[in-house]
Amino acid sequence: MFLPTRRKNRTFALLFCVITFTTFLFSYTLRDPSVDFFRHAFRLSDGLFSKGQCSCARCVAEAQDGDDGGSWFAERFNRSVHPLMTRDNSVLTDDTFKWWQWLQAERRPANFSEVVEELFRVIPDEVLYADAGPKRCRTCAVVGNSGNLKGAQYGALIDSFDFVLRMNQAPTAGFEEDVGAKTTHHVMYPESAKDLDNTTRLVLIPFKTLDLQWIISALTTGTIKHTYAPVASRIKANKDKVLIYSPTFFKYVFETWLEGHGRYPSTGFLSLMLAVHICDQVSVFGFGADQYGNWHHYWEESNLSGAFRHTGVHDADREYNVTLQLADKHKITLFRGR
Ligand code: C5P
Repeated sequence: MFLPTRRKNRTFALLFCVITFTTFLFSYTLRDPSVDFFRHAFRLSDGLFSKGQCSCARCVAEAQDGDDGGSWFAERFNRSVHPLMTRDNSVLTDDTFKWWQWLQAERRPANFSEVVEELFRVIPDEVLYADAGPKRCRTCAVVGNSGNLKGAQYGALIDSFDFVLRMNQAPTAGFEEDVGAKTTHHVMYPESAKDLDNTTRLVLIPFKTLDLQWIISALTTGTIKHTYAPVASRIKANKDKVLIYSPTFFKYVFETWLEGHGRYPSTGFLSLMLAVHICDQVSVFGFGADQYGNWHHYWEESNLSGAFRHTGVHDADREYNVTLQLADKHKITLFRGR
């Protein structure tokens, strides 16, 4: 007699808990239909866990005091889109593939997945930099090519970062005092390619299938000499250190961070976003105009107003504004040079 009653009581208690929890859940979501309970709950846990995201004094991914889940940065920052291509993430959605192919349309593009297969027979297929955590403090310098670096004397500071990302021509010889000498990652596309030393990682931004074929060729047979312009048929670079910028990430940067402004993001902005997603602390050098409003490169005379601003494909103002906003929200440190 006694045992069944205890079991009954337990069953009632359990039932009571389940009903109370379900009622709470429904009343919460029904009170405000626009509230996605689970999304909210996850955002809350994001907030709880985002403190101590890395071992630096301040971490890019960490919520700052006064931030809530709806802050400008948190709404955009998405660590689940991996910046670099691997075999696994190389399958593009129709939307992404269409958008990406539209960037520099090819008349008769080769079969994308076959090219990707071939690519990963030449370069390693590795998932890198997905090691964010409370023990990591990866500091990065993103060095753009602005003339505001001339005379800035940032060289020693730039060389002190774990990662130093440069892009396109970015000469260092003869400019060491201002721009440093270290390059861990060099971001480029076929038409801007240059030779690298054995320790530097080449990060290729592909704009078309032919660009993937070009890197295969440039590291092996040297048969491709022309894309829409003449390109280096061979490139000196360590093929075990070549990385490919993911078209999915490329589109995410364009749509989420630039809100579709310009035709596509500049190499500089793409590099900055790469750093924001793989580093814990990001310092930015060589972006924007110099103190006189010139947009030239640091190796050019300032009266050569600089190709960057006038390419017609980038929205330089929008990019710079987002960069300023990141600095304003303490997500990056911006060094404005001279
Ligand atoms: O001109 P280039 O694309 O080689 O420069 C690399 C990057 O440096 C640009 O994509 C741009 O983001 C940045 N840059 C800049 N201001 C300049 C020159 C370059 O912000 N005056």
